[in-house]
Amino acid sequence: MGARPPIRRGALALLFLIGVAASSCGRTGPLDPAPKTDPKGTLFVFADLRGTLKPCGCSPDLRRGGLDRVAEVLRMAREAAPTGLVLHAGDLLLDDEGIPDILRAQIDRRLVAFADSLTSMRVDAVGLGPNDLQQPEWLAEAIPKLSVPVIVTNAPPNAPWGAHVKRSLLLDAGPLKVGIIGLVPGGAAGATDPLVAAQAESAALRGRGAQVVIALSSLGLRSAKRLARGGLGVDVMVAAGQGLEAVVTDEVETIGPEARPTFVLQSFVQGGQVGRIDIDLSGGGLSVYDPEAPPATGGQLRYTLTPVNWDLPRDAAVAAIMDRFDADLEAVNMSAAGDPIPAVAGQPTYVGVDKCFECHEETRAWYEKDQHALAWETLEKDKKTFDVYCVSCHVTGFMRPGGSSLKALEGRKDVQCESCHGPGSAHAEAGDVTLIQRSPTESSCKTCHNPKHSTRFEFDAYRERLLAPGHGLPLEGAKGP
Ligand code: HEC
Ligand code: HEC
Ligand code: HEC
Ligand code: HEC
Repeated sequence: MGARPPIRRGALALLFLIGVAASSCGRTGPLDPAPKTDPKGTLFVFADLRGTLKPCGCSPDLRRGGLDRVAEVLRMAREAAPTGLVLHAGDLLLDDEGIPDILRAQIDRRLVAFADSLTSMRVDAVGLGPNDLQQPEWLAEAIPKLSVPVIVTNAPPNAPWGAHVKRSLLLDAGPLKVGIIGLVPGGAAGATDPLVAAQAESAALRGRGAQVVIALSSLGLRSAKRLARGGLGVDVMVAAGQGLEAVVTDEVETIGPEARPTFVLQSFVQGGQVGRIDIDLSGGGLSVYDPEAPPATGGQLRYTLTPVNWDLPRDAAVAAIMDRFDADLEAVNMSAAGDPIPAVAGQPTYVGVDKCFECHEETRAWYEKDQHALAWETLEKDKKTFDVYCVSCHVTGFMRPGGSSLKALEGRKDVQCESCHGPGSAHAEAGDVTLIQRSPTESSCKTCHNPKHSTRFEFDAYRERLLAPGHGLPLEGAKGP
């Protein structure tokens, strides 16, 4: 990039306008009560909630974020910047699993918690992402329940869900007029070309007085950059839609035509960080603030990230909404829960750990100290024992033939032997070794240890940790060094 930021034509026009305003101010003198206002403003962004009120916390790097603490970070930040706008980019209501039947009742209840939380947090606008668009009929009913404007600039004109979203919004961040657009991947639920839509809408917003235009995009970082290279006509783009494993920095990349580049900001999943964008157009033009080399003149954009750590207090109002959601799940899910799936004739079914202990007393000492035996207690501590999503991996044989269901968990709580060795009824009858899985496979672990929950899973290392005297190692192997 060049050393000096180019002063753009739009910015010159802006300088001119400010000049006029200032001089007219001067003419009327002290009688004119209107103070000269600098075109400065603050935007707060969080991203990719993906239907998560609070991340599961299954792995250390998943213990951050959540709406209650995002709300707390925003509450504190607004004390210093009360006119800051709050925007959400990327997938809001759903993750990549969409709406499995078993989660439908819970997801509908969660929508209410989302709506209440966003209202309580006074969020100004939200974008959507490709996961939200997986089930457009559901979305068409969901959007009107949110009391926050939903912006999708490239929504298809004729789809039912498209009728409920706005194409853009022009808002005041204090004295700064901010145009907001939202972009989803082209083709998703009929969405049109994001580049064409962005160019047209940002030009229209500027015509209506927008001093900066920000895009809430859910295209992922790579596609967002490609789009910016094409000349979006947008000043700032929040590149949501990154994977869970994305390494997020506060780096701002300047991409696209010199006359009007786009500043691309990375974003962060499940509300793990809150970004703050401070824009000061008073010098004209716009360049990224660099503490090493502050420019002599010109407007500035400054981007900072605040991690949403779990040692922060919870915002009381949003915490109450989330706790009510957890408390309601018993009624919501127990009435929706089906019976366990019947066993398939001729196939083994689940018998439970106590049955295994009848002949494998040697494994008891190991198992009782193993973390899999604590899986249910973990959910009890989190008050998540009626959350079908959590329960599915923290119990044994959930919704498998001959296994458990939310209504039938007695004796199947925790991750028991049969989660790894397979249903054991046939083997347990007479101890026939050919009727049980001796060496659990990597794929059996991964039904639970997937990248969304077990971010550091590595089969050999994890398997090693299960081997102990009495379980895969001879009992006499207990001899110390
Ligand atoms: C897809 C399966 C899956 C789902 C769904 C799931 N978990 Fe987990 N959970 C795991 C696995 C696997 C681990 C162990 C991860 C590791 O250590 O690598 C774990 C670990 C945890 C831990 C850490 C326990 C400790 O003391 O270290 C907590 C807390 C937890 N889960 C809570 C939840 C909650 C709450 C939910 C629902 C919001 C949930 N889990 C949903 C699979 C799952
Ligand atoms: C009726 C007694 C009995 C019950 C109940 C029983 N087992 Fe076994 N199991 C045996 C015998 C006998 C062997 C073979 C002897 C040995 O190598 O320890 C065996 C071996 C195994 C093996 C090793 C297989 C191999 O190829 O070496 C596994 C794994 C196993 N059992 C798991 C289980 C699980 C899981 C359960 C509960 C679902 C269970 N067993 C219940 C008697 C039983
Ligand atoms: C039915 C789901 C499920 C399956 C299948 C499963 N696990 Fe787990 N695993 C869990 C859960 C849940 C936890 C965390 C329990 C807790 O503390 O609440 C866990 C924890 C662990 C831990 C301890 C992690 C830590 O942070 O200390 C290891 C090691 C582990 N699993 C290995 C395996 C291996 C290897 C397999 C396959 C052979 C496997 N697991 C299969 C659900 C599962
Ligand atoms: C989280 C997964 C997991 C759970 C839970 C689990 N096992 Fe295992 N088990 C393994 C793995 C992995 C091995 C090592 C097998 C190998 O050598 O490949 C093993 C080995 C064994 C063996 C020895 C096989 C041999 O040849 O030495 C027996 C017996 C056994 N398990 C029984 C049980 C019983 C009984 C329980 C419940 C009390 C249980 N296991 C719980 C994963 C598990």
